[in-house]
Amino acid sequence: MKLSVFQSADLAANYVCELLVDRIKVFPSSVLGLATGGTTVPLYNALVKSFREGEVSFAQATTFNLDEYIGLPEGHVQSYRCFMNTHLFNIVDIKQCRIHFPDVTAENLSEAGLAYDRLIEDAGSIDFQLLGIGRNGHIGFNEPDASFDAASGIRELSETTRADNQRFFTAGESVPSHALSMSIDQILKARKIVLMATGFRKADALARLFSSQYKLESFPASALIDHHNVEIVCDSEAAINLDLAGHEVVCC
Ligand code: PGA
Repeated sequence: MKLSVFQSADLAANYVCELLVDRIKVFPSSVLGLATGGTTVPLYNALVKSFREGEVSFAQATTFNLDEYIGLPEGHVQSYRCFMNTHLFNIVDIKQCRIHFPDVTAENLSEAGLAYDRLIEDAGSIDFQLLGIGRNGHIGFNEPDASFDAASGIRELSETTRADNQRFFTAGESVPSHALSMSIDQILKARKIVLMATGFRKADALARLFSSQYKLESFPASALIDHHNVEIVCDSEAAINLDLAGHEVVCC
């Protein structure tokens, strides 16, 4: 795994923005796997800035988001569709018909997960997959002890994840217990994976990922160690516990 460490979360975000913009410039019809969460906000701000400055167009890009909560009313401000609309989709020139989320309105949610996998495969799989990481090592909503071989589908959120995400919800409103998530198997089919981690709260998970020698279902992010093209992009706070000896590291 390549590791790039930046002095701040904004610098890390600007770097990932550059990676994405460069990719889209060369391959305008790229298939992008997108993530949500606090870590990604500075990245989407940087992408919007690039778009407004005329550096990049999303007109031919296709996107697949990693996950969506089950059970929130349509248009709920904490739905991931709403997050993406606010931070990127409503601002840039992406075509609505090329934006994809797991269909949490479907009657059969397990089938909706399988249909999502088929849609991604029909699009030729993901060229560039963006990931965050949970404090418990989740990627997407693939929580500890979920099978690495499971198809995309319903996932139960762990208590850690629900507690972490409670900060986005108003008092008295609870984080949904379940989500539809892209599977680990599907994530690993992406041609390039960039995992972002910022802030001290991610330091332990990042150190565990970086030192992983075996894939363990109890630590979902460890599935990434077998992938040939993974780059971890973090800030100095998230990197604080890393043992960098013997690794390829770019520090900026
Ligand atoms: P965060 O979430 O960016 O809000 O910390 C990341 C994740 O849980 O994958």
